[in-house]
Amino acid sequence: GLTLLAGCSGRPSFDPATINAAPIGQGLPRGFLLGASTASHQVEGNNQNDWTDWETSSYPDGSPHIHDRSVSGIAADSWNRFDEDIALLKQLGANAYRFSVEWSRLEPEEGKWNEEAFARYRQWVQALRANGIEPNVTLHHFTLPRWVSAWGGWENPATVDAFARFSGKVAEELGEHVDWWGTINEPNVYAVFGYMDGVWPPGKQSTGIAAEVLARLLEAHARSAQEVRKFDTTDADGDGKASLIGLVHHVRVFQPATGSTTDTVVTGLTDSFFNQSVTEALRTGHISIFVPGEITIERDVPGLKGSADYLGINYYTRDHIRQDFSPSFSHKYVPEGRETNDLGWEIYPEGLYLFLKRYANLGVPLVVTENGMDDRTGERRPYFLRSHLYAVERAVAEGVPVLGYFHWSLMDNFEWAEGYEPRFGLFRVDWTAGQARQATPAVQAFRDVARNLGLTP
Ligand code: NOJ
Repeated sequence: GLTLLAGCSGRPSFDPATINAAPIGQGLPRGFLLGASTASHQVEGNNQNDWTDWETSSYPDGSPHIHDRSVSGIAADSWNRFDEDIALLKQLGANAYRFSVEWSRLEPEEGKWNEEAFARYRQWVQALRANGIEPNVTLHHFTLPRWVSAWGGWENPATVDAFARFSGKVAEELGEHVDWWGTINEPNVYAVFGYMDGVWPPGKQSTGIAAEVLARLLEAHARSAQEVRKFDTTDADGDGKASLIGLVHHVRVFQPATGSTTDTVVTGLTDSFFNQSVTEALRTGHISIFVPGEITIERDVPGLKGSADYLGINYYTRDHIRQDFSPSFSHKYVPEGRETNDLGWEIYPEGLYLFLKRYANLGVPLVVTENGMDDRTGERRPYFLRSHLYAVERAVAEGVPVLGYFHWSLMDNFEWAEGYEPRFGLFRVDWTAGQARQATPAVQAFRDVARNLGLTP
């Protein structure tokens, strides 16, 4: 069961024997959404957006931006293989699929809509629904049309208007078949990687700009949610309830490396910027982002309070924090001896439980919109999946309103700056043999959960 580590910080510690013996899935509530996630640029193939440029340009020192020098290219070719992808979801026993629509495809030039691409996405959501799979559609998952990045992307307030208009158009076109929306994926990660650490486009390194961009993304979420509500007035699944619109938040456990005052204070600042500023903004309608030594953002945003019907939670790992003098004031690392995924991220299922408990009283239900690991052999994912769903079940048993769990990812895909080496997929994609999909051992583990939940016989 759930035991507390004696005498220390009150953090729980899960017992593998208990998890291995548990009929995971039986403790999830009725109507629970069990599915997998992807994002357009990572799986569709042949997208032309700001990332496409980033992939092919170089740092001034001549080195490429993507770790393994890959470019996203044809990716998993999902644009042409959507039927195959639905078959994979069926094989899992999933009842939900989270994916994103690609803004650069749908609006290749400002104000010019690509009706063919809309028709294709419409086919997708119809086909999903016909197969008993609830679509959850993300409107912004890290990529921008080139015409938006050319005017400064999210640094330019005009992007908020353009994105709001785009959101309304998608809701109008797809709303008849969609009851679950996500406005913006991981505003905090986007701001930090693109504007603080500079490892994603546009490659800036400024704490102040990162904070501005984070604030702007929260405003954009509020505006986008308003437009989706205006244009999606239909009840696709006939449950008598309006569509649910969420913000998708990346949460990370931060732990001070030592008990020193500086490590402790920097850990608090990191948590406040990265985790708490987002949920506090949603809860109060007031954005407050504290940036030491720079501008501190304080802003009331009309329509922000109450803008999210649910909070999407993407959870992967825990970082240990040591204070340093980089733009983020911290060095993040994993202590010796911890289990990590193949990208070196600590595997810490207890952290998911901690965040579900922490956000239990936000006033909106929670959906785990992403959770997964880079597992290049595929052998460790089954336990990863079970232990994190165990975390969900423990939280549910303690009354936390969790409505769904989406594993990242349905299949291997383009892992941004890390390229194609990481393997996050429940299904393996063969990059050299026509993007063929092949089940990993976690598929059976997922099917067991679906059966225990009563989704499959
Ligand atoms: C979160 C992001 O939303 C997704 O795009 C990414 O591939 C996964 N994390 C894994 O890093």
